[in-house]
Amino acid sequence: MRTVLVTGATRGIGLAVARRLAQAGHQLALHYRGDESAARDLAAEMSRREVPHALFRADIADAAEAAALPGQVAARFGRLDALVNNAGITDDAVFLTMPQERYARVLRTNLLGTMRLTHAAMPHLAKAEAPAIVIMSSLGGVAGKEGQVAYAASKGGLIGLTQWLAARYGHTGLRVNAVAPGFIETDMTRQLKPAMTQHILDGTALRRAGRVEEVAETVFQLLEPGYVQATTLRVDGGFNR
Ligand SMILES: NC(=O)c1ccc[n+]([C@@H]2O[C@H](COP(=O)([O-])OP(=O)(O)OC[C@H]3O[C@@H](n4cnc5c(N)ncnc54)[C@H](OP(=O)(O)O)[C@@H]3O)[C@@H](O)[C@H]2O)c1
Repeated sequence: MRTVLVTGATRGIGLAVARRLAQAGHQLALHYRGDESAARDLAAEMSRREVPHALFRADIADAAEAAALPGQVAARFGRLDALVNNAGITDDAVFLTMPQERYARVLRTNLLGTMRLTHAAMPHLAKAEAPAIVIMSSLGGVAGKEGQVAYAASKGGLIGLTQWLAARYGHTGLRVNAVAPGFIETDMTRQLKPAMTQHILDGTALRRAGRVEEVAETVFQLLEPGYVQATTLRVDGGFNR
């Protein structure tokens, strides 16, 4: 049984990932930021399903909290085999008028939060038999979308981090890959204006939004032992704009 830490596990893509990994029989370290009620609901669901799990609270934009999280998981379970860096935010605005603090917050959460957490997880992953990291990038990080300057910079940075970690630590057996979802139905995309949603769907070959379960399936596959390394897998329905 592998122990997997999933960040942002109480809603959206992270919740779907937690459910998929539960189905596969993993032991789960379920991270959340502040929604105690959603965290309790998730824990109750996992208990009903007899999935070994524990909840961990942390604001990954806080340097100390992000760095402490992997150690807390290892202390609780005695091991950490895999890490799903899913938690993230977006804050879209026009670059030239966007206050620095707003784009700094996006970078602090998505890029620095993930780097700090991953950095702190490395000594624990080094002891695992088939260690793996999946980093949630975005299509925005591959082909920066309008209004998403901070988001694109952070998610593009995560692709660089993925490639670097994969190249540097691949010889140890550590597998590192990123996922770049396109338009997936979650709270994050529900904030978009209808015209923008339509624009994205018109540019998507499958002509529909993706489901969280479809991203979760990809994350699950990337965590399984295998030969995929350093890749950024697009789960975007063939988005082509
Ligand atoms: N939806 C899409 O179309 C799409 C496309 C490409 C990439 N993605 C990426 O996929 C990931 C999940 O997105 P989603 O659509 O599921 O978003 P979501 O529904 O908005 O969920 C975001 C998750 O991140 C957590 N989070 C945000 N800021 C945090 C912080 N400072 N510390 C700890 N946790 C924090 C949230 O926790 P709280 O509940 O406590 O706020 C929540 O669990 C993100 O990295 C996102 O960028 C999404």
